[in-house]
Amino acid sequence: MNKAPMALLSAKLACLTIATMASLATMEAKANWVGLRNRNGILQLKTQREFDYFALALQWPATYCRRSSHCCSSNACCRGSNAPTEFTIHGLWPDYNDGSWPACCTQKRFNEKEISTLLDALEKYWPSLSCSSPSTCHGEKHGTCSSPVTGDEYNYFLTTLNLYFKYNVTRVLYEAGYMPSNREKYPLGGIISAIQNAFHATPLVVCRNGALEELRLCFYKNFEPRDCVTEATQNDMGSSSSSCPSYISLPEFVSRGKFLSAVVT
Ligand SMILES: *[C@@H]1O[C@H](CO)[C@@H](O)[C@H](O)[C@H]1NC(C)=O
Repeated sequence: MNKAPMALLSAKLACLTIATMASLATMEAKANWVGLRNRNGILQLKTQREFDYFALALQWPATYCRRSSHCCSSNACCRGSNAPTEFTIHGLWPDYNDGSWPACCTQKRFNEKEISTLLDALEKYWPSLSCSSPSTCHGEKHGTCSSPVTGDEYNYFLTTLNLYFKYNVTRVLYEAGYMPSNREKYPLGGIISAIQNAFHATPLVVCRNGALEELRLCFYKNFEPRDCVTEATQNDMGSSSSSCPSYISLPEFVSRGKFLSAVVT
């Protein structure tokens, strides 16, 4: 099944929805212009106000790779013994306090040459874990909106890598005794507490079929840790995850690359 057209479509829908919301919102702070093509291909200019905070989204490869249905050269799940086994970066996303987020803020296209010196690190710590093309507007859907704070493309990626090194979630979980296992289940509250104790802020945990899939750390615009905004906090219910049961697994990575790439190539 080819997911790329769906991903592209949802990216487009996201841009349109956000532009609509932004145009309704009062224009506080710095507004930036965003060019969007409507259904008839007519370019429209909309403004979006500047975001409120950052979310550093970290993915747990073992959970992602279990649903990687096929292999391609860009899918790190298929690197066999070199596949990532610890948290990797999904993205640094600018968000609004109301739970929405801006996207597709500039017309500037993603230029790999600007980050050539970072490519080795990015391939290792920020790999793609699927074959579907990223849902982008111009190569980096979310990143373009953080430019008022992170500056150019190079700085955006470098800032993200530095945060990832500084706030090592894998280490915090291991030190609290939460080791990857295909048998154990761990209390969600314990995992959240371990992160809270280490970084003094509440993360957001996302699960799939009872397994930890993504962990998000949130930061003020000066990169000090802050609590993440969750559906629960908006509803004032005080739990920090909606998609996770109270006991979750942190699966071990099971390499399946060789078999899968043999099938595909
Ligand atoms: C995070 O900590 C783990 C466990 O100590 C270590 O293996 C890993 O290299 C660290 N990751 C980074 C990016 O420093």
